[in-house]
Amino acid sequence: MLEELPLTQWKGPYDADTKARAVAALESGAVLFFPRLPFRLLNSETQFLTAGVADGKAKNISLDHTTGRMQASSLTGDKAQALAAMIERFGAGAASLVRDLLPYREVERARTSFRPVQVKGRSYSKISDDRLLHVDAFPSRPMRDGRRILRFFANVAPDSPRHWHVGEPFEDFARAFLPRLTPHPPGRSWLYDKLGVTRGRRSRYDETMLSLHDAAKRDDAFQQTSPQDAISFPPGSCWLVFTDVVLHAALGGEFALEQTFHLDVGQMADPAKAPIKVLERLRGESVA
Ligand code: SIN
Ligand code: FE
Repeated sequence: MLEELPLTQWKGPYDADTKARAVAALESGAVLFFPRLPFRLLNSETQFLTAGVADGKAKNISLDHTTGRMQASSLTGDKAQALAAMIERFGAGAASLVRDLLPYREVERARTSFRPVQVKGRSYSKISDDRLLHVDAFPSRPMRDGRRILRFFANVAPDSPRHWHVGEPFEDFARAFLPRLTPHPPGRSWLYDKLGVTRGRRSRYDETMLSLHDAAKRDDAFQQTSPQDAISFPPGSCWLVFTDVVLHAALGGEFALEQTFHLDVGQMADPAKAPIKVLERLRGESVA
């Protein structure tokens, strides 16, 4: 469930044994844990360790590294620029680590986020409450033919650990929930694409993953009784996980940074472990 790697450097080269362990564990649904890899803030950046840097509406401040646009921060001017620079330095570090550690030749670096709000006290609707066990699925960003969601996190809080729960294997979860999902209305994915609600058209895979995300969060009995392991990520540690396949919940903590990556199923060392392949096996048909 947790594969600890002793990296202390954000850039390779890493040794062959470490790289082999990393990809095997990651694709098998483990969380890669880097206890000795702190993301260090500059002295001037510790001013950003307050919930006040967020605009109070969104959960996270996000940065699009391709445009430099930052969203959902309350800061303006030089301070906004300094915060964006901190998030960007983290995102670039995460990207070099992923590039040097894993065998994937084409990895898309998507958004980078800063999560400055204490998880515990937040209140949200069930569907947007990440304290409930779920697999990630993005309502507006279709993954079409099973493109993967890989996320790298750093706990930059001075003293609070980030608490997660990690659930049962995806296959067990999907087998239990698939028969209960109600089909999406025909034509909706087409309409959402036309209206610009989604960036491109959702596939059956996207609809299935969104339904699994929602059904898990809505099921109180599942939340309370399904097997879960608690993990505590201490300040100064990082972790990397395929969040589309690993059931996870963030129960507490403040001040995390996160970088999202996407890659095609064909890039994987073992594509059979992709959630789309698991769903196709269980359903006996293509869901792309
Ligand atoms: C999530 O991806 O569900 C939240 C993870 C976190 O913020 O620690
Ligand atoms: Fe999540």
